[in-house]
Amino acid sequence: MVITTEHLTYTYSPGTPFEKVAVRDVSLTIESGEMVGVIGHTGSGKSTLIQHFNGLLKPTSGRILLNGKDIWGEGMNIRDVRFNVGLVFQYPEYQLFEETVYKDIAFGPHNMGLDDKEIDKRVHEAAEFAGLSADLLEKSPFELSGGQKRRAAIAGVIAMEPKILILDEPAAGLDPRGRNKILNQIRDYHTHTGNTVLLVSHSMEDVANFADKILVMNNAEIFAYDTVENVFARSEELKKIRLAVPQITNVFHRLLDDGLPVPENVYTVPYAKKKLLQLLAEKENAHA
Ligand SMILES: Nc1ncnc2c1ncn2[C@@H]1O[C@H](COP(=O)(O)OP(=O)(O)O)[C@@H](O)[C@H]1O
Ligand SMILES: [Mg+2]
Repeated sequence: MVITTEHLTYTYSPGTPFEKVAVRDVSLTIESGEMVGVIGHTGSGKSTLIQHFNGLLKPTSGRILLNGKDIWGEGMNIRDVRFNVGLVFQYPEYQLFEETVYKDIAFGPHNMGLDDKEIDKRVHEAAEFAGLSADLLEKSPFELSGGQKRRAAIAGVIAMEPKILILDEPAAGLDPRGRNKILNQIRDYHTHTGNTVLLVSHSMEDVANFADKILVMNNAEIFAYDTVENVFARSEELKKIRLAVPQITNVFHRLLDDGLPVPENVYTVPYAKKKLLQLLAEKENAHA
């Protein structure tokens, strides 16, 4: 399933003193199966943009297309759009409201009109994808830890088996272990299902580790939308808008400046380690 936006613009409170253009003239295509990181400062328009992808917000002007069809066009049903494009809000745990975790995860599939057997299968699969052990399903959501609540809320969206899964800052507010756990689970979900995943984050490190492509939003507009490599190659421009490339990339740029033969495109610590070990091995061989 392909998402396209054409000159998408969204204005909050138009015609009032509070008028605010939150998304301006955004045109982009997200291909089926991609893992896209959406990054930008607070207030840059990330949440506003992604809420258009499942029809939660309607463009002030411009269009949003799913597989080439305008989602607000004639004959389109916004309910179907919502089943195909799953959106996990920022701090989704505040939306848990059922007596049990099971019922919360089952809520979406139930609304889709699926039968109990199918719902049961989906609840268990989604819980597993989200890293929630089965013995938690009969608990009240309020008995769970913060990280577990977050995973329960994510499972509730995954259980609808959306072709496109969008997560708005899924790791926000969690400790480093909780962050890594959730981000790894999202990556595994993407690998297993091959579904499109959009991950909103304001951490370049997270995005570098998880995404194929990066969409950089700045002041309501697209600043860049390209492969991780091509975006981080623009590190000087990114610095100008106060978006830092990952620290490890900076370290490697310094090494390059110092004349060491290291690659320019290093964004993750494991890759950095591999390259440094290679370099050391080459040096040793040269001395041998
Ligand atoms: N409900 C709203 N009413 C008015 N302005 C809003 C509303 N939500 C967001 N905004 C404004 O729109 C801009 C973009 O916000 P948002 O999409 O939430 O950005 P981000 O997710 O990147 O932090 C900000 O200036 C924000 O203050
Ligand atoms: Mg936001």
